[in-house]
Amino acid sequence: MSDIATESGSAAGGIDQIRHIVIVGAGAMGSQIGMLCALAGFEATITDLQGDALDRANHELRQRLTRDIEKGRRTQDEVDVAFGRLEFSTDLTTAATTADYVIEAAVEKLDVKRQLFADLDRLAPPPAILATNSSSIVSSRIADATGRPDRVCNMHFFNPALVMKCVEVVRGPDTSDETVQVTVELARRLGKVPVVLNREIPGFIANRILGAVRDEAIFLLENGIASVEDIDTACRTALGYPMGPFELMDLTGIDIGYLTKKDRFAASGDPKDQPSRSVSALVERGELGRKTGRGWYDYDDAGTKTPRPTEQVTSS
Ligand code: 3HC
Repeated sequence: MSDIATESGSAAGGIDQIRHIVIVGAGAMGSQIGMLCALAGFEATITDLQGDALDRANHELRQRLTRDIEKGRRTQDEVDVAFGRLEFSTDLTTAATTADYVIEAAVEKLDVKRQLFADLDRLAPPPAILATNSSSIVSSRIADATGRPDRVCNMHFFNPALVMKCVEVVRGPDTSDETVQVTVELARRLGKVPVVLNREIPGFIANRILGAVRDEAIFLLENGIASVEDIDTACRTALGYPMGPFELMDLTGIDIGYLTKKDRFAASGDPKDQPSRSVSALVERGELGRKTGRGWYDYDDAGTKTPRPTEQVTSS
């Protein structure tokens, strides 16, 4: 798998040297990124410490792709071949030894990522690029845990990764031109539209804009101006958003935005970077959105949502 890349002696070998992509983390993002890689013709291994997370990812991907076949978006053959190229494994140590490219999509915690990257640096062949899907932790905060900071960058996908077209490629101070080029080309091969950030800034482009919209939506809710449902409806029907900010937080996971804000506050000390009262309360109660069946809305087993009373979602 990685033999050609190893011979080339650098990530440079370019996109054609990439055969085996290892994804760390089998959550919604990691699993869909792994599927994208397999669909694009790469050997892909989705790894996770938890076997049940891998089983869940496998099950959800099969459901998703079956729907694509039913809807005529993909053929049975295409999907079977892709699943044949996709492995699910709890053994990152073995998977990483043949990785040509690693995409980390684990929890948004700096110490976890630094340890992971130090391990990956030890395990993966020297030419392999180590990318993080993080939107809030810029790669320079992780790159120095490795001996290959030139081959570390952010490669940031959007949720749901199988659908959303944009991939943000972020250059850290030590990221090489070659790493950026290979990552941009990889994003294209996965059917995505890459955008490059030449300098690091937490949140990158899309999440910074989204964060401003989200903060305003929460301000309107917490000040009793309108309900979750009406704010979402206004965004959809007045602004043409595909979903409102609360629906979107439930889709991406309320904890993700919470951890991002906590991280940003730790770095800036600016009170406006702190998670809002209602978001903190939801996270403390484990009401994290669709994945827990309850967030800004309630969800039944079929994923159908029902609004919750405003006092429930704004109580601390
Ligand atoms: N996973 C994979 N595919 C999904 C999906 C999911 N969770 N949800 C929907 N889809 C796909 C399906 O193919 C579905 O078609 P199907 O039902 O016929 O199979 C198709 O999208 C359309 O879905 P729906 O009819 O259920 O609903 P919509 O037309 O509203 O589309 C959407 C769903 C594509 C998610 C759309 O609402 C949308 O674009 N929402 C905004 C998403 C967004 O803003 N994402 C960015 C979030 S920020 C982020 O990711 C940052 C990161 O750092 C966390």
